[in-house]
Order: sequence, then C-alpha cells, then structure tokens
Amino acid sequence: MTATVEFELEGLIENFDVHDERLKDHFYETLEAMRRRGPVHRSEAHGGYWVVVGHREVTQVARDWRHFSSAGGVVLAGTKPQKYVPVEYDPPQHQSFRRLLNPHFSKAAAATFEPQLAVFADKLIDAFIANGSADLTEAYAKPLAAHFFFDLFFGLSPDEAAQCERATNQAMFSSSVEDQIEGFSQLERYVRYLVVRRRELPSDGGFIDSVRTGEVDGRPVTEEELIGIIQLMIVGGDDTAVHTIGNVLLELGRHHDIRDRLAADVSLMPSVLEETIRHMPPAVSIMRTVTEDIELGGQQLQVGDRVILMWSSANRDETVFDDPAEFQVGRDNIRQHIAFGGGVHKCIGEWFARMIVSVAVERLLRRLPDLVVPPDAHIDYRMGQSRGPATVPVTFTAS
Ligand code: HEM
Repeated sequence: MTATVEFELEGLIENFDVHDERLKDHFYETLEAMRRRGPVHRSEAHGGYWVVVGHREVTQVARDWRHFSSAGGVVLAGTKPQKYVPVEYDPPQHQSFRRLLNPHFSKAAAATFEPQLAVFADKLIDAFIANGSADLTEAYAKPLAAHFFFDLFFGLSPDEAAQCERATNQAMFSSSVEDQIEGFSQLERYVRYLVVRRRELPSDGGFIDSVRTGEVDGRPVTEEELIGIIQLMIVGGDDTAVHTIGNVLLELGRHHDIRDRLAADVSLMPSVLEETIRHMPPAVSIMRTVTEDIELGGQQLQVGDRVILMWSSANRDETVFDDPAEFQVGRDNIRQHIAFGGGVHKCIGEWFARMIVSVAVERLLRRLPDLVVPPDAHIDYRMGQSRGPATVPVTFTAS
C-alpha cells in the first residue's frame, strides 16, 4: 500500500462515515484496516456513533434486540420522513407485524412471480440486443426491479407504477441528498394516495389489500402502519435488487470463466448469487440504539449511544472467510454470510431478492452469453447505507 493511500485511509477511519464520497474507491480497504485495529470503533460523524466491523460483534448486536433497539431508527442520515414498519419496531410488536407479513414472502410465494418477470426481462433485452452494447443498470436492472415491485407485487396500474418508479428512482438513485429527500417525500405522498385509493376499490386479494384488511394484536392495521410497510418494501427491496443484479453482471462480464460456467450450468446460480451478496453486500449497514450500558468488542457502550452495524465488513472478516476479498464460487461456509442481517429483523425479502436476481441473470445470459465489461470501464459506486454500481457498461454480439 502506498503512503498516500495509507494517509487517505487514516482520514476515512477516523470519524468513519458511510456517506463519505471518498469511500467510493477505498471502501473495502478502509473496512479491512479498521478490522485490523479492532472490531468496534468510535466515530464522531453525524452526532457520533460506534462502528461495528467484526463478524462476531455484528452478529451479536443483530441478535440482541434487548440491548440494541431498532425503535430509535435504523437510518443514519435523515432522508426519510416516515417510520418504517416493521424494521423500526422491537419485539413483541415487531413479531406481530412479522406474523402478518411473513406468509407473503416465502420461497414459494416468490416463485409465483418468476414466469411473468422472465417475460418482462425478455422484453427489456429485446429493446437493446441489436445495439451490441448497453448500460445494464439503466436499460435492465432498474426497470426490471421496478416492474417487479410496482406492477407485479403491488398490482398498480401502468400510470401509477410509472409515478412510483419515478419517485423511487429520485429517492434511491439521485446523487444529491436534497434530490433524495424530495424523492422520499414524493414517494411518501404517492404511497399515501395509493392507500387511500385502495380503500375505495373492490378487494383484489393482492399484497396491499391483504395487509390493509389484516390485524396486528387483534386490531386492524392503521393507515400510517400500512404506509410504513409499503415504503419499507420499496426502499429495502428495490435498490438492493438493482445493486445485486449489477454486481453479479459486473462479475460475469469481467470473469469470463465464471460467466461461461454459469451459462453452461444454471444450477450454479445459487452459489454465484450468494457469493456475490457476501462479497458485495448491497445493504452496507444499519443503525441500532443502546438501551443499557454494555461492553462490546472491548469498548464500553452507554445507554443512548448509537451503533452502526457494518454487514459489508462482517462479510469480509478474515477470521471467518478465507481470502475474503476473493470471489470464490462454492465457498463451503458461505452460509455464514450476514448480508441479509440476523436475529428478529433478518430480511423478510431474501427469497424475493434471490428470485429477482436469478431471473434477471438467467434471462440475460441466455440472450447475451458473450457479454463483456470493457476492461478500461470505470465503474462509479453509489455510497451510503446501500452500495452498488451506478452503471454496468457491457458489450456483446448484437443480434
Ligand atoms: C440482496 C437484496 C437484499 C439484501 C442484501 C437485504 C438486506 C437486508 C438486511 C441486512 C436487513 C436487516 C435490517 C435490520 O437488521 O434492521 C433487511 C431487512 C428487511 N428487508 Fe431486505 N434485503 C434485500 C432485499 C429485500 C427485498 C427484495 C425486500 C422486499 C421484498 C426486502 C425487505 C426487507 C424488509 C421489509 C426488512 C425488515 C425486516 C424486519 O425488520 O423484520 N429486502 N434486509
């Protein structure tokens, strides 16, 4: 490592901040340097918090909701106006929401969307396959994820789906924080409108309708809760899916041996997918608040302290994964990755994520088996609590 990079890392470690633009090109090096120094660090950014980087400590905090509460909020910088449900609740209320929501998110439920999503993926590919090149973020990953959420899962009309997609893109993918805040407000206003409108329509048996008429702890779900649930699905699921599709495609477009093995044997998909999610977790981090003084990784935390869990660091902890920076299909301890979280808040949408990304990659490889990411392409990574490639430029044989 050069002296300049060492110096730059020093500045990134001190008062570590996932929103620091300088992390774009030094993200994993910074986390590695922090792990070498210890599992838990202090940062004074955004009013101060503890940064947890060790796999053991991240897992411990994720599982211990009694000492590490989600009720104080899970997002670092205040871009969102709405309380998200159920992620910003602790048990027992959290469990009541999960009981209502879980049946909609099983592996079997995810599989029911596969055929329709595959048809839409093919339609998107038809639009650029004759060009011989494309940015797969704009032309493929974003519209595919939006189609899944707004058309298939929420069952919105084409106009409504387009409005939601616009607001989501602004909230999740704008480079300026002001634009993101405006996007989140638009999204909230729009989701509110959809919920009110849904009340006036006959039952359609879809997700929104079924949750709207459901009960938590023997009482009806309130309108505010329903709005918080729908918004969380969008902000927790849309960009994580887009980023994961982008990360897999970048890997395949750069490592043609893996691309060709996968194209020849699609049963490798789960291994490729899981390793991508371990190696480049799209959900970077999450916040908790300490409810009682406690020692963690050699540091003394006090009631009221905020803590940020770095999933992206835990997944590269060298005490758990051999050569963690390497992309290895078929790691035998891949199940120890913690990209979907752990404990009571473990991602409810993990089977949906796997389904969306598998459909996206399988359809694309079938049609563009020789896709290549040009070796000189510079990939800009979005930074924040979610991380992924802003563009995925590829070339391929036009047809
Ligand atoms: C590769 C894609 C995804 C990753 C890496 C991911 C990651 C995570 C993580 C780390 C958490 C834990 C949050 C915490 O501990 O507070 C979480 C929770 C959650 N995720 Fe995902 N997610 C993904 C896709 C999705 C999708 C597609 C959906 C929706 C369909 C979704 C919906 C949720 C919800 C609702 C929660 C909150 C669960 C709770 O609080 O009980 N996620 N996700």
